[in-house]
Amino acid sequence: MSNRPYIVGNWKMHGTRAMLAEARAIDRAAERLIKVEVALAPPSTLIHACRKEANLIGIGAQDCHPADGGAHTGDISAAMLKDAGAGFTIVGHSERRADHGETNVLVKQKAEAAIEAGMGAIVCVGETEEDRDAGKAEATVGEQLKASLPEGEAAAANVTVAYEPVWAIGTGRTPTPEDIAIMHRNIRAQLVEVYGEAGQEIRILYGGSVKPENAVELLSADDVGGALVGGASLTAESFLGIIIAAA
Ligand code: G3H
Repeated sequence: MSNRPYIVGNWKMHGTRAMLAEARAIDRAAERLIKVEVALAPPSTLIHACRKEANLIGIGAQDCHPADGGAHTGDISAAMLKDAGAGFTIVGHSERRADHGETNVLVKQKAEAAIEAGMGAIVCVGETEEDRDAGKAEATVGEQLKASLPEGEAAAANVTVAYEPVWAIGTGRTPTPEDIAIMHRNIRAQLVEVYGEAGQEIRILYGGSVKPENAVELLSADDVGGALVGGASLTAESFLGIIIAAA
């Protein structure tokens, strides 16, 4: 596993070309921040432009269709995203699971399609508040992970896991570092069960209300290999605050 923390900004459905200046500013600063691996996942419409504007940071997508191509109006295949300049894609984000009814089976297919196309896949898992209150957080995440992880020879080398408790996304609330450490320990054990020793090398990111002010604390939890950042990645100023905290 790379020792460098991996900090990924997910712009979600934010951004027109006016936001390319933020990508440029992040990229310029990344040149000086060699201790951190930085990436952005802008909306699909900006992938190509971001790739051209930003030379140093990774650029990825937020989703992909599991099929290579075909009659799927409005969808984008992994190969198309790669062609546009994406080096990875997020799959199974809780907003897609909720808004589009994405199942673990579909998330797994998407992750496999991304890897088949030569990209990395960031597989997202996370419990709802109800799950946590019912003492089912670990079981829920375990089930999601088991059914969403890609199979295949290249899977372990190209997958990243993002643990994002649904109740912490965009709310300003976060789990304690101890809670994160417990969950990441379980995720790690499952990764080793599925992929053998290669599972030790897979990075596990934390996501959910990561901000410059809490990044040091959240990133210092055991086995946190980086962060998947939503709202605080939308300006270079706040995203760089997190990157600096990770360095
Ligand atoms: O993909 C990012 C996560 O959903 C976290 O979003 O940082 O706005 O809470 P947030």
